[in-house]
This record gives sequence, C-alpha cells and structure tokens, in this order.
Amino acid sequence: MSDSIYGPYLSELERIRASLVSEIERIRAELAASLGMDPVEHCLSRIKTEQSMRDKCRRKGFPETTESALQRIHDAIGIRVVAAFVSDVYRIRTLLSQIDGVQIVEEKDYIRHAKPNGYRSLHLIVQCEERWYAEIQLRTISMDTWAALEHHMRYKKKISRNLPLIEAELKRCADELASTDLSMQTIRDMILEEP
Ligand code: GTP
Ligand code: MG
Repeated sequence: MSDSIYGPYLSELERIRASLVSEIERIRAELAASLGMDPVEHCLSRIKTEQSMRDKCRRKGFPETTESALQRIHDAIGIRVVAAFVSDVYRIRTLLSQIDGVQIVEEKDYIRHAKPNGYRSLHLIVQCEERWYAEIQLRTISMDTWAALEHHMRYKKKISRNLPLIEAELKRCADELASTDLSMQTIRDMILEEP
C-alpha cells in the first residue's frame, strides 16, 4: 500500500509529464526551423510535491484523496515554457492545441488581461488521454523575471512597511516590462520582414 496522495499513479503522471515535454520540444524544433530562431528560452516541469498537493487540497477544502489530487486539482503536473517573444507564446499555444490526445480545457490569458498586481502569463489547463490534467504556463522572459521576483518578495519576507508603495512599484515594473516586450516584438517583426 502506498501512502502517496497520488496513490499508484505517480509513474503515470511522470509519463504524461515527459510526453508533454517531448511534444513541446518537437514544437520548439518545428518553430525554430520555420522561424530560423529558437522561440523557447527554457522549459521547466515538475510534479507537485506530496506536501504542496496536500496543502492545496486543505486550502481548497477538498479531502486529501487521490481523486482530489488527480481530478479536482489540475496542476499535479506543471510545465512552464518561457519564450523570447509574445508572438511565440501564442504560436506555441496554437501548436499545443493541435496535439492528438491533448485538449485545452481551461485558459486564462493574463497577457491580454494582466492581473491587478501586474502578473502576466498565459495559463492553460490541458487534459491528456481524456483523463490526466496538466497546467502549462507560457510567458516571455520579461514576464518570467517579474514573476520570479514578485514570488520571491511575497514568500521570502513578511512585508509590513511600505506595502502599498512596494505593490505600486512592482506594478509599474510589470507595465514597463510589458511595454518593452511590445517594442522588442516590433523590432523582431521588422527583422523577420527583411528580404
Ligand atoms: P490555483 O489553481 O488554486 O493555484 O488558483 P487559480 O487557478 O486561480 O490560479 P491561477 O491560474 O491564477 O495561477 C496558478 C499559478 O500561476 C500559481 O500557482 C503561480 O504559479 C502562478 N501565478 C498566478 N498568479 C501569480 C502572481 O500574481 N504572481 C506570481 N509570481 N505567480 C502567479
Ligand atoms: Mg489553477
């Protein structure tokens, strides 16, 4: 008997994680060939640890069961794809939606509609083989830099002084980075248009 919240399914989660990552590598190679430029800066993936899955079940008021971990919570498998340009994020999204056996069942576009704190990313929940779920986060290098810093500040230190100012400054940075992403995209489009 296994005590894991994932029951006997950890190896299945590993298999699905590896298969999604290899599909992403295939998409990456395909786009690199057609664009003449690797669109992916890096790709990370993980299976949520036992402890954080249990914490999340508790936080959401779900029983700590395999059913909750695999069917009610959809990010036991998490993948983050960091792309150079905003256009690549959407190109990758389109190609992901075309993979056999993979359906996008939920989509949150925090790029078109940034969160109030300035967070930007495209979040997809995909269902694989009509059974397993994974969360895929797609973002640019700038968005990734901001999210890493914001995450660090939120969890590392209990901020008690200057909170509104810090939040406003973080938001300003996020907006400036988004504006830089737009400029970089324009430069890139001009380069690609060169005969
Ligand atoms: P949960 O599924 O309970 O996490 O809530 P949700 O579905 O409302 O979450 P959402 O799709 O908005 O975000 C899921 C994940 O995105 C989080 O676990 C983080 O990894 C990331 N994320 C969302 N918002 C932020 C943010 O404001 N800052 C940072 N750094 N990461 C964020
Ligand atoms: Mg979520």
